[in-house]
Amino acid sequence: MISYKELGLVNTRDMFAKAVKGGYAIPAYNFSNMEQLQAIIQACVETKSPVILQVSKGARDYANINLLKNMARGATEYAHELGCDIPIVLHLDHGSSFELCKECIENGFSSVMIDGSSLPYDENVALTKKVVEFAHQYDVTVEGELGVLAGIEDEVVAAQSHYTKPEEVEDFVKKTGVDSLAISVGTSHGAYKFTPEQCTRNAEGVLVPPELRFDILHEIEVKLPGFPIVLHGSSSVPQQYVKMINEYGGKLTDSVGIPEEQLRKASKSAVCKINIDSDGRLAMTALVRKVLTEKPAEFDPRKYLGPARDELKKMYMHKNIEVLGSAGHALD
Ligand code: G3H
Ligand code: 13P
Ligand code: ZN
Repeated sequence: MISYKELGLVNTRDMFAKAVKGGYAIPAYNFSNMEQLQAIIQACVETKSPVILQVSKGARDYANINLLKNMARGATEYAHELGCDIPIVLHLDHGSSFELCKECIENGFSSVMIDGSSLPYDENVALTKKVVEFAHQYDVTVEGELGVLAGIEDEVVAAQSHYTKPEEVEDFVKKTGVDSLAISVGTSHGAYKFTPEQCTRNAEGVLVPPELRFDILHEIEVKLPGFPIVLHGSSSVPQQYVKMINEYGGKLTDSVGIPEEQLRKASKSAVCKINIDSDGRLAMTALVRKVLTEKPAEFDPRKYLGPARDELKKMYMHKNIEVLGSAGHALD
């Protein structure tokens, strides 16, 4: 057993309290390799933003838990070396079982999500409560989920979303003791969130998807005043990356993500953690394709992963500054 405190990490408790009070959201960026981690730390140090490093079950299997633990330790030391000890959380994204959460807690994670959202309500409560009781012994914070997002969530695929029922949230939080709650208000996982047919066009001709259900979010905030709310599936699917991927030999079909304006609005509410994975994948793939197409004789991974890392950093900085509002809050 190694405590996250020995790795220089923090849990989400203070971070969320400050974010809710300050009207901004903490970025939760998924990673599974070194270049993604470098980009996240560089961007968050430069913008002085707190950050949540997220590891999915798939990423844990891909990268190895020992390596991940030491990468997180490296991340705190790297931030220090870069000149700003930003608060860093290592979080299990979409934990699917008690055993997985326990394994992560014993390996230096400071926060875990137990995702019982596909279970019947009572089973979700029982599983979440069991994880909370274990995690809190080690001062690890826990995220639960109520409601179902459409799209691919690790190995679970939901065809349709089921919005969170505001009448359930108080009971769920009270019975489980969770520290934060992920809700379903119209976001979805993956790069294919809305087809152009599901959107309308604004005055500039830009495709705009249906608005998130801010009415449901508001009802939840009223039931749980000041309680930290989490938004999954919050990639914006930047069209410049989709275009670049297709220009350099890719075959992505048209899709629209969550508009930045709506995420900006959500960040000012009780939403204090916003999950972004797909946008990072798109940015990285776009740059790798571009470099390899323009320089077909290149075979040094640093020559294509380096530019991909630089683009990722730029994108994360933009999100921290322009969308989530977390920039400048590292030392609150
Ligand atoms: O919601 C989750 C993540 O985007 C999952 O990604 O399981 O492919 O690593 P992954
Ligand atoms: P995106 O697929 O929209 O990036 O969502 C990521 C996520 O919710 C990770 O838990
Ligand atoms: Zn998610």
